[in-house]
Amino acid sequence: MTIARKDILTLIKQHVAIRQYQDRPVPREILDKILDAGIWGPSVHGIQPWRFSVVTSANIIKRLSQVMKQKSQKMHAGYNMVLRFSAETISNAPVLILIYNNQDLQKFMKRMGGAYLRCARISEMQALAGSIQNMVLAADFLGVGSCWLTLPVFCRKEINKMLKDRGELAGVLTLGYATAGRAGTRSKRRAVKSMVKFVEE
Ligand SMILES: Cc1cc2nc3c(=O)[nH]c(=O)nc-3n(C[C@H](O)[C@H](O)[C@H](O)COP(=O)(O)O)c2cc1C
Repeated sequence: MTIARKDILTLIKQHVAIRQYQDRPVPREILDKILDAGIWGPSVHGIQPWRFSVVTSANIIKRLSQVMKQKSQKMHAGYNMVLRFSAETISNAPVLILIYNNQDLQKFMKRMGGAYLRCARISEMQALAGSIQNMVLAADFLGVGSCWLTLPVFCRKEINKMLKDRGELAGVLTLGYATAGRAGTRSKRRAVKSMVKFVEE
């Protein structure tokens, strides 16, 4: 797959998060390509701190969404609302990719004497974000909508219990084909010059 530089810039700018999906599965070969983009996220000196669980069971997706809705009832207003909103996005999606921090960088640093653990955690999160963004853009390129969610992390324990996992859940990517006419919009961007300082001397 070759893509011209101009095309990737267009893809980045035109990408919108999708929260409403058709009742249509995403073919396995497309999922494999999206996951492949994820594993080609930026490593930290070769260390790849991610692990993925792909959920395609409508029953489990519904239960995950219910767990989040239940938890949202115990949270303050505001958090309550955004967690419910994310639970709705999950309940709509035919596929979820759960992204875990496998903590390989922290393990490596511990073997080296345990210094710089805070830096290791920050690096893990940044590498995971790079991996997720790769999947978001690859999915868009392949015609698949997605929404990057961190709020499910509030329900990490409950989700782990349901999926019999003990990992550090770092985020969830919902995937599916956008419902016609519900494609979403991008928020406006502040001017580059208001956010960038060139240090030239
Ligand atoms: C790290 C991260 C976490 C996010 N978590 C959530 C979330 O839990 N729920 C949600 O609805 N949107 C969440 N979003 C927002 C959407 O994934 C998406 O990026 C956003 O709607 C795009 O808006 P924009 O047009 O302002 O770029 C998150 C985005 C990022 C980058």
